[in-house]
Amino acid sequence: MGLLTMNKLTGAVGAEVTGVDPDRLATDELLGEAVLEALEDNGVLVFPDLNVDPETQVAFCRRLGGIDHSSDGHHPIAGIYPVTLDKSKNSSAAYLLATFDWHIDGCTPTRDECPQKATALSALHVADEGGDTEFANSYAAYEALDDTEKRRLGSLRVVHSLEASQRRVHPDPSPEELARWRARPVHEHPLVWTHRSGRRSLVLGASADHVVGMDLEEGRALLADLLDRATEPELVYRHRWSVGDMVIWDNRGVLHRAAPYAPDSPRLMLRTTVLGDEPIR
Ligand code: OGA
Ligand code: MN
Repeated sequence: MGLLTMNKLTGAVGAEVTGVDPDRLATDELLGEAVLEALEDNGVLVFPDLNVDPETQVAFCRRLGGIDHSSDGHHPIAGIYPVTLDKSKNSSAAYLLATFDWHIDGCTPTRDECPQKATALSALHVADEGGDTEFANSYAAYEALDDTEKRRLGSLRVVHSLEASQRRVHPDPSPEELARWRARPVHEHPLVWTHRSGRRSLVLGASADHVVGMDLEEGRALLADLLDRATEPELVYRHRWSVGDMVIWDNRGVLHRAAPYAPDSPRLMLRTTVLGDEPIR
């Protein structure tokens, strides 16, 4: 038996981890490696009713890799970013409306940083309605293609932008908003990510704007079709939050989104992001 006790949540993605408490997260030297391995295998790990304090969450995530501090300043504890639509709790809340669309974090970095390796969310307050988080396995999405498609898609490149993901949820930006989005560089990524492990996944989601060298509408239709197929219900795990749950996902191998919740909802998640070290290629 391994270090972690796990039960698969679906056939495609997600496992629940039991027998771990905050004390063990803080002190068990071997846990970081075991969690990274379990993330590679399962994409998403759910720690139900963990009730971890923010300091311990950050300290534990440090065992998985470097902590992303680029969103610090919205919460008193370094390494914690409050995920909420409530602008009084997070002045950058408007950007988070885009979490309602399927996406991979970090496809449009400020420079050329790798996408984040992993993200942890823990639930401080949950929504009365909506606010589940859904995860889809992007390795399985690639594997579901037939050989002809694998060959054809293997050479395609896709332009990703912050503007593409924000425009879907803010279709009428002010000139200032648009300028802020456009200040973020656009990035070209292969559609098929060949990982260090040798596994392949599809790089899709809200930030994907168009396919390089393809007619604009044809390329967008292709991206939409691939995303639909990647997120078919049988490839998805949907987490219904209870206060105290912590969920970690491997951002390299899953797409995720939040089910819509009201802008004035009390929903508040504390997020810690682990830096990636694997470029999309
Ligand atoms: C995120 C994110 C989803 C959620 O924090 O990157 O996509 O359910 N969150 O809040
Ligand atoms: Mn996200």
